[in-house]
Amino acid sequence: MNRIFSQSLVAAAALGAAAFAQAAEVKIGLAAALSGGAGQYGAAIRNGFQLAADELNAAGGVSGNTIKLVIEDEQGKKEEAINVFKKLIFQDKVVLIFGPTLSNSAQAADPIAQAAKTPVFGTSNTADGITSIGNYVFRNSVTEADVLPETIRVAAKHNGIKKVAVFYGNDDVFTKSGYDNFKKALEDLKIPVTTTETFAKGDVDFKAQLTKIKATNPDAVVLSALIAEGGPIMVQARQLGLNVPFIGGNGMNSVKVFDLAKERADGLWVGSPWSIENSTPENTKFIAAYKAKYNVAPDQFAAQAYDAMHIVAEALKKVKLSGKLQADRDALQAALPAVKITGATGAFQFRQAKGAAGKPGGYDAVQTPIVMVTRGGRYVIEK
Ligand code: ALA
Repeated sequence: MNRIFSQSLVAAAALGAAAFAQAAEVKIGLAAALSGGAGQYGAAIRNGFQLAADELNAAGGVSGNTIKLVIEDEQGKKEEAINVFKKLIFQDKVVLIFGPTLSNSAQAADPIAQAAKTPVFGTSNTADGITSIGNYVFRNSVTEADVLPETIRVAAKHNGIKKVAVFYGNDDVFTKSGYDNFKKALEDLKIPVTTTETFAKGDVDFKAQLTKIKATNPDAVVLSALIAEGGPIMVQARQLGLNVPFIGGNGMNSVKVFDLAKERADGLWVGSPWSIENSTPENTKFIAAYKAKYNVAPDQFAAQAYDAMHIVAEALKKVKLSGKLQADRDALQAALPAVKITGATGAFQFRQAKGAAGKPGGYDAVQTPIVMVTRGGRYVIEK
């Protein structure tokens, strides 16, 4: 064998080994609302995941495995979330599903993952009860129950709030849960409610309820809404001269509010562990990388997704993937609860939730919320 030929054989063998190493893939599903009213959340979520997966893969993947995201649009609809979950679990055979975007969809689709013993990890589901579905259900999105009391406390202190009106969507799992938690927090803080009004998903005209609210002369409006309705609500409130602060839940913590309401978005109070103003090394690195890749600033939904990918990567480092699907899903489920990281959203760890009917529950986030108010197209931290 001549020298050139043997060298090319060595090169081919090396190439073959590299190709083989690259072929070791860990498939992770992402079910996100990439279209419809929740599309803005889904776009930020997809970007956050893609950025984290690309960074991890550029650094050699996880224990030699390349992360492959299988991304599906569940349209923010529970029926679609169910279809997408079935595809990801049974056809794509992913080891874990991230998503879906809305709690409303999670409540319908997560039981499918639980029954199929496939870990499911929400990054934006903040309603009560999602993790009680079972021990394969995880989330790093801090619940309304954990955030809203702090949001109300800080907003009330800054604005001298003595009485509020409450406005909420009564046909969505998240907006209803937000309402329940707002009500409880207001009772605990002894803040009386002047009136409680409701709307439904897909409504576009909120003037009748806002006129009623204005007539009760509240110091603030407590709003449990997703952004598709919450944005227009803020615009119409200001048009009617209802210029008091708004206090929102997680659904209102999206930069979309600035597109929808422009300067009328000012005076909206929200809480979250993440803020663009937080200048920790992890967050600074995340914000710079996100802006470099997408040419826009990230929001809280992107940050939660970015951190979630890193949480799962930490768990995957501890798991010896066998290539046997169920064994790998079980091993990942078993490794996740112990993960602790400091990410873009700060220090993170899980706590186990109560399960339904005496069964083991899933895992919620332990994180400290920051309270912010919108001012001039930004969420500004207030203490
Ligand atoms: N936090 C919102 C939900 O849970 C997006 O539906």
